[in-house]
Order: sequence, then C-alpha cells, then structure tokens
Amino acid sequence: MNIVVGVTGGIAAYKTVQLVRLLIKAGHEVTVIPTEDALRFVGLPTWEAISRNTVTTSVHDDVARVRHVALGQAADLVIVAPATANTIARMTAGLADDLLGTTLLATTAPVAIAPAMHTEMWRHPSTQANIEILRERGVHILGPGDGELTGGDSGPGRMLEPEELFDEALALLAPQDLAGRTVAVSAGGTREPIDPVRFLGNRSSGRQGVALAAEAAARGARVILVAANISGDVLAAAKHPQIDVRLVGTAAELGDAMRDAAASAAVVVMAAAVADYRPARASDQKLTKEEGVLDRIDLVENDDIVAGLAASRPDGQVIVAFAAETLTDPAARRERAARKRERKGVDLLAVNRADAEHGFENADNAVEVIGDRGVVVASAAGSKPEVARAIWDAVVNLSQ
Ligand code: CTP
Repeated sequence: MNIVVGVTGGIAAYKTVQLVRLLIKAGHEVTVIPTEDALRFVGLPTWEAISRNTVTTSVHDDVARVRHVALGQAADLVIVAPATANTIARMTAGLADDLLGTTLLATTAPVAIAPAMHTEMWRHPSTQANIEILRERGVHILGPGDGELTGGDSGPGRMLEPEELFDEALALLAPQDLAGRTVAVSAGGTREPIDPVRFLGNRSSGRQGVALAAEAAARGARVILVAANISGDVLAAAKHPQIDVRLVGTAAELGDAMRDAAASAAVVVMAAAVADYRPARASDQKLTKEEGVLDRIDLVENDDIVAGLAASRPDGQVIVAFAAETLTDPAARRERAARKRERKGVDLLAVNRADAEHGFENADNAVEVIGDRGVVVASAAGSKPEVARAIWDAVVNLSQ
C-alpha cells in the first residue's frame, strides 16, 4: 500500500521514525512529508534513509510530476504523526502552503492524525473545536495518550506509541470484507486442574488467536473471542468495541463457550490449544508427596471440540482449525495436516511450525493453510498479525 506519513513540528517526531520503519518492514511504500518545522526535530536525511524515498517539504520541487497533488492522489492512507495544535488548526482551515497541506487537500484516502501537545493546548477550546470538525469530516483521531510530556508535565497530550499507531494504520487499511458477519475465535491454552494449585497445561500464549480476533474486527466483523488463560498484556490487543471477550479455563468450559458462540457465527476459528486429556479426578485438596499420590495421574480424553462443531454446523458456516507440528519436513507436515483436516471435518487447517523460533510463545509465526484435498491455499510467515491477515484472506476467498 502507498502510505503518506506527514510529520509536523513536535518533539514526538523522533518516535515517527520507528513508525516509518514498521510500515516499511511490513512491505508498504512510504513517502514522508515533513513540515519545515518538523525538520528542526528530525532531519531530512533521516527521513530519506528510513523511507527509502525522496523527501521534500516544498510544493516547488518535482513540479513536472505535479508532486503537490500526485502524492495525495496515489495514497491509500495519510497519517500525520505527530500532529501539533498548529497543524490541526491548519487542517481545519484547509491551508495548503506546503506539500503536506496540498497533499491533505488532494487525497481521497483515509486520513489519520496522532495529536501530540501539552495538556493545556489539547484541552483548549480552539483545539477541541478543530478536532471535532476534523472528526466530522471523517479524519481518524488516534489518541492522544495520557502520560509523561516534555518538561516533566503529565496528562493527556502524549502521542501514541509507534507500535500503536502502526496497528491503527493497518486497521484503517483493512478491507471491510467481514462486515456484517459474526465470527467466533478461540485462543490461548486450556488448563486442566489436578488439584487447587496444579494443572496440566500447554505453552500457548494466545497471541495468534488474539491477532485473528483483532484482524477480524478491523475487517468489520463482530467477534466473540473465547480466551483461555491469556495474560492481560496479550489480551490488550483484543480491546475493540466489536470484540466480546469470554474468559474460560478448562477444555470443558472452552467447549461450552465455543458451542454457544458458534451458534450465531458465520466463521469459527479454533486457534486455542486444547488439552487432549484431563485428570480423571481433580482433587479439591492439594495433593502431597507424603500421601504418595503424586506419582500417577489418571487421565480421561476430552471431547474434540472442533470436530463436534464441524459435525453439527449450520449450513454455510466455515470452520478453521489449527495444528502445531514439530515435523521439520514440509511435505510430511502438509500430509499430516491434510489427514487432520479430513479427520476433523473442517474447511481449512492452518499448520504452524512449532519450534524454538516459531509458534508458541514467539512473536513470529509461519503457517500454511491446507484446504480441500490437501491443497495449500495460503501461506504466511511473519508477525502474528500478518499471519492473521493471510488466514482471513483464505477464509474470505473460500466463501466467495
Ligand atoms: N482441538 C479441539 N478439541 C480438542 C483438541 C484439539 O477442538 N480436544 C482443536 C484445536 O483447537 C485445533 C485442532 O483441534 O484447532 C488441532 O489440534 P491438535 O491437538 O493438533 O489435534 P489432535 O487431534 O489432538 O491431534 P494430535 O494427536 O496431533 O495432537
């Protein structure tokens, strides 16, 4: 995608360097348009080096290619970070005496701004009135956050962190191809109690499932996220008005919650790592070595939740399962995945390589999505949000 990053004259400009890096790393074409004032904070060579594109502030450069409107016309998204009180006022008035001003007037792409200023300036009626006008015009206002400001002050006015801006930017670029649909996603790992202090569990962090929920919401879906033992940090990425989080602990609880969620869902994604077995009896007293009862735990098999959902699914519902496999040979991994897909009766099975660098507990993941007759319908390697995008693309393709 073509992304224009406008940078205006605030100290937070140094954080925008990281935003540009993240966008480039995710494969986007980025053009940085600073204001003259912004260059006092971060110099032109930095923006050129980091964006790998020519950078200018002026409407008088590259006139042959009508740069003053061409950049805005070609943009898929314009994000201004930081957006100072002055810039916000200028945008409201439609001033266009520099390249950023003309670009903002020439674009029909979504525009987002990340305000950054002192609390008093943010709260001033002029700024608030300008923000309201921009919001009414459809400009996305990202933040500001509440926290430490330059000079030791603290309060609302702090620019959002580059990682947050990156996520928001990608959400704005998301196609609305799941709008009007409800999807049910399970995430995390179940814990099967042995006694009040011990459990049988697994290493799933829930990151991939949470990324799937967040991506579905960004694409317009209403999401029911059934979350098994996910830390608050990880779950924070699922904070979205369209995501309804339901917390569960055991496989039995996850099964109940998913059957309930699946009843109204067009798509079911079982990303949770479900324990295949549970202790036959969970003791309500802590077991001790002294009693000699800890050397053996009798297990009973849990129901296969996703197979059950697939067997009784409503017409047209798409079901996606996951499998973490340690097999290193790709062909063998695919073959096993294809058999698992058949056995579970699901439409798609996303296999991920579970090793030291990928899968459980890691920020990155690599998956292949296996469809009908064992065909690989999609593959993706990268961050868990990137993998989530590829999986939803495959789901959308399937239902077209
Ligand atoms: N799953 C489930 N219920 C279970 C176990 C697993 O719904 N009791 C789901 C998982 O959420 C995942 C898929 O089934 O989407 C694959 O899980 P996996 O453990 O790989 O499958 P198994 O059938 O247990 O195969 P294996 O013997 O290879 O572990």
